[in-house]
Amino acid sequence: MTERAFDIVLWGATGATGRRAARHLARRCDDRRLRLAIGGRNREKLEALRHDLPKGGTPLPVLVGDSHDTAFMAEMAARARVIASTAGPFALYGSELVAACVENGTQYCDLTAEPQWMRAMIDAHEEKARETGARIVHSCGHDSIPSDLGVQFLQDAALARFGGPCKRVATRVTRLKGGFSGGTAASFLNAMRLRESDPDFDRLSADPYALCPDGEREGPDGPDRMMPVRVTWDADMQAWTKPYFMGPMNSKVVRRTNAIMGYPYGRDFRYEETGLTRSGIGGWWAAMSSMLFGRLFLTAMAIPATRGFLQRNMLPKSGEGPSKEVRETGSYEIVLVGEMPNGTILKARVTGQGDPGVRSTTLMLTEAALCLAEDQDGISVGGRFWTPAAAMGGLLRDRITKHAGMSFELTDTL
Ligand SMILES: NC(=O)c1ccc[n+]([C@@H]2O[C@H](COP(=O)([O-])OP(=O)(O)OC[C@H]3O[C@@H](n4cnc5c(N)ncnc54)[C@H](OP(=O)(O)O)[C@@H]3O)[C@@H](O)[C@H]2O)c1
Repeated sequence: MTERAFDIVLWGATGATGRRAARHLARRCDDRRLRLAIGGRNREKLEALRHDLPKGGTPLPVLVGDSHDTAFMAEMAARARVIASTAGPFALYGSELVAACVENGTQYCDLTAEPQWMRAMIDAHEEKARETGARIVHSCGHDSIPSDLGVQFLQDAALARFGGPCKRVATRVTRLKGGFSGGTAASFLNAMRLRESDPDFDRLSADPYALCPDGEREGPDGPDRMMPVRVTWDADMQAWTKPYFMGPMNSKVVRRTNAIMGYPYGRDFRYEETGLTRSGIGGWWAAMSSMLFGRLFLTAMAIPATRGFLQRNMLPKSGEGPSKEVRETGSYEIVLVGEMPNGTILKARVTGQGDPGVRSTTLMLTEAALCLAEDQDGISVGGRFWTPAAAMGGLLRDRITKHAGMSFELTDTL
């Protein structure tokens, strides 16, 4: 790669997640080992942010431009080795940057959880990315790193212990304490609007293999549903399951990992992800009320009048997010239950400190960007649209365990 001015550019640095990612990045690189820059569309905000960042040496360069300015995007992509983006909704502000990174062979990671947009980017640029060597890694936040790297961790353990992968993995969200930011709300609102104009939107949302390569969009999993049809009992965990909004998105990423890595989990691998309550009538009722509330919320979001009301009065705005206390006291845990072909059960747990939607997400994105910038000799894959596990796997797992307050552990075998 020819010499570039910056090792990492953080794009969208003035938003709720961007500001925190900028702080983590500056702190992690306070020895000045990497040449960093922050970018966005508002010079004043960027300069105020730069002023607040941990000090050390010369202030970070600031790059100012608009996401839709293709010439600016091309110039920025040509000057950077890695670009990490928090400028979302990505379906609204992300396409020109991805195109520029692909064209210039620039490594890229972001926080998108918008499968329709990811599909469109893969279809438009995958071939070119292979040519230029651009590794494009979407979904490097709470969606979908814990699930994607968690499944890979469990399957690596199954391979080491039993000589083969689990044929089925069920991920259960057992704790989720925190809030969400204005950009997340905006992405959800944008998805609800797109749904009204795009006749293919619901089909792609329900397609479990929607992110898999062409010709490989078949497998044993049924449709992905944001809201299950009924409350179900999880015999492995001895508790009732409840809906988990991000389950369908994370599941698509896990299945893409399996497909683009050449099916290390098997071609008949099955995956699903839900929340979990408890056993007994209390657990059943908690699951049922969560489903009823979820349905009510989705219905309200589908109707333009109630959607507008919620947007104006209840949902966080761009730049807003959970309070410092919520960010710092938040945490999460997922339990992954894998079943071997002979019925043996293997379980793993992934935990994260800090609220999943902002604090933990920004730590994960920061480590993904550092991994692309610093671990390039250890990354064995070339240019393409990757998932976090397929591109960075164990390298990223080590980083987020050391620097992002996360843990991966095997719990038991039955
Ligand atoms: N994967 C996950 O787990 C996860 C978690 C959290 C967030 N997210 C996603 O991350 C994204 C960011 O969330 P957020 O809460 O940080 O959003 P936000 O606070 O609204 O920040 C958005 C950023 O994009 C910038 N921007 C908007 N339009 C632009 C344009 N035309 N040109 C240049 N910059 C532009 C904004 O600049 P200004 O400051 O000038 O407005 C701001 O810096 C969202 O898509 C959200 O869904 C994902």
